[in-house]
Amino acid sequence: MVSFKHIYATFTLLVLLSSTFCFGFPEFNFRWGHGRDGVSRPIGGGRSTGLFPGFYSDSCPQANDIVMSVLERAISKDSRMAASLLRLHFHDCFVQGCDASVLLDDHPTFVSEKKAVPNKNSLRGFEVIDEIKSKLEQACPKTVSCADILALSARGSTVLSGGPNWELPLGRRDSKKASLNGANKFIPPPNSTIQSLLTFFQRQGLNEVDLVSLSGAHTIGVARCTTFKQRLYNQNGNNQPDSTLERSYYHDLKAVCPKTGGDSNISPLDYTSPVTFDNTYFKLIMSGKGLLTSDQVLLSGNVGKTMQLVKAFADDHTLFFNHFARSMVKMGKISPLTGYKGEVRKNCHRIN
Ligand code: HEM
Ligand SMILES: *[C@@H]1O[C@H](CO)[C@@H](O)[C@H](O)[C@H]1NC(C)=O
Repeated sequence: MVSFKHIYATFTLLVLLSSTFCFGFPEFNFRWGHGRDGVSRPIGGGRSTGLFPGFYSDSCPQANDIVMSVLERAISKDSRMAASLLRLHFHDCFVQGCDASVLLDDHPTFVSEKKAVPNKNSLRGFEVIDEIKSKLEQACPKTVSCADILALSARGSTVLSGGPNWELPLGRRDSKKASLNGANKFIPPPNSTIQSLLTFFQRQGLNEVDLVSLSGAHTIGVARCTTFKQRLYNQNGNNQPDSTLERSYYHDLKAVCPKTGGDSNISPLDYTSPVTFDNTYFKLIMSGKGLLTSDQVLLSGNVGKTMQLVKAFADDHTLFFNHFARSMVKMGKISPLTGYKGEVRKNCHRIN
C-alpha cells in the first residue's frame, strides 16, 4: 500500500509537471492520433488500469450498438437526457471510482448515494440505464457491467449531442456497496471557489486541464435555481449579486429565480445551445454568462492556467473536443474494480 501510494504520488507529480510543461499556450504538446474514423486517440501516457477498449469484443461485440440504439430513442424523446446521462458517469466516478455505486438503491448495509445533497432531486436517467441493462442481459447475460454502461452512455450521449468521439477503455466491474458520505464529500458544490474546485479534482488525480475541459460538459443540460440563486441575491454575504455576472443575463436569471420560492425552476447551463455539445459554454464564460459560480470562476478565479484554458477553448472548438475526450478517458479510469474485484450486477439497482 505504501509503495502504491508512493507510485501514485509520483504519478500525480509527473502529471502536474508534464501538464505544466506541455501547456505551451496556445499549443498543447501531447500528440493525437487521428484515425480515418475521426476518433481521437491519445498516444502513450495512459495510466495502466487493466481497462481496454476491446474488453467485450468476444463476449458482447454488440454492446455499444445496443447502448446507442437505446440512447437514440431516449434522447429523441427527451433532449435533456444526454446531459443527465453524461452527469451520471461523473457522479459515479468521483465516489469510490467508476464502479456504478451511484446506481445502487438502499440496502441493509449501506444508504444509497441517490440521497446525497448533490444527487437528490437532481440525478436523472436511471430508467434509461435500466433499459440498456435489460437489453444487454438478454443479448449477453451477466457480461456487461453497470459501470461500463455508464461510461458507454456518457460517450454515446456526447457523440449524439454533436460532441467528440473517443476510444473508450472498458472492463470496469460493479461495486458491492455505495457511499452516501462519499457522495456528500467528494462531489464539488456549485458555489465552489476555484481553489476548492482544483482540490476536488486533485483528490481524483485530475489536474486543472481536466477541470476546465470536463466543466465543458455544461455545454448541455440545465441547473435548478437552488444551485445558482446565491449569485443573484447574496453572493458574498452582503446581499449583493455576484459582480462577475453580466448585467442582462443577471436580469434574465432573476426572472426565472425569484428571491423566495422557485427553487426547482430550471435554467440552461448554456442558454445559446442547451442540447448541442459545442464550445459556446466557454464563449459564454468569456462574456460573464457562466450559470454556476463554478463555471464563471474558471475565468474570474484568476488562476493563470484555468483562465488561459477557458480562452483557448472558447477560441478553438477542436482543441476543446480533443481535451474533453482525453479528460473523459482519464476520469473514466478513476479507481476501477477489475479482475475478480466487485461483480457484474444483473440489476444495476442492487448487488447480486
Ligand atoms: C467542476 C465541478 C462541477 C460542479 C460544481 C457541477 C455542478 C453542477 C450542478 C449544480 C448542476 C445542476 C444540478 C441540478 O440543478 O440539479 C450540474 C449539471 C450538470 N453537470 Fe455538472 N458540475 C461539475 C462538473 C461536471 C462534470 C465534470 C460533468 C461531466 C463530465 C458535468 C456534467 C453536468 C451535466 C451534463 C449537467 C446537466 C444535467 C441535466 O441537465 O440533467 N458536470 N452540474
Ligand atoms: C455554498 O453554499 C453552502 C450551502 O448553501 C453554504 O453553506 C456555503 O457557505 C457556500 N459557500 C460559499 C463559498 O459561498
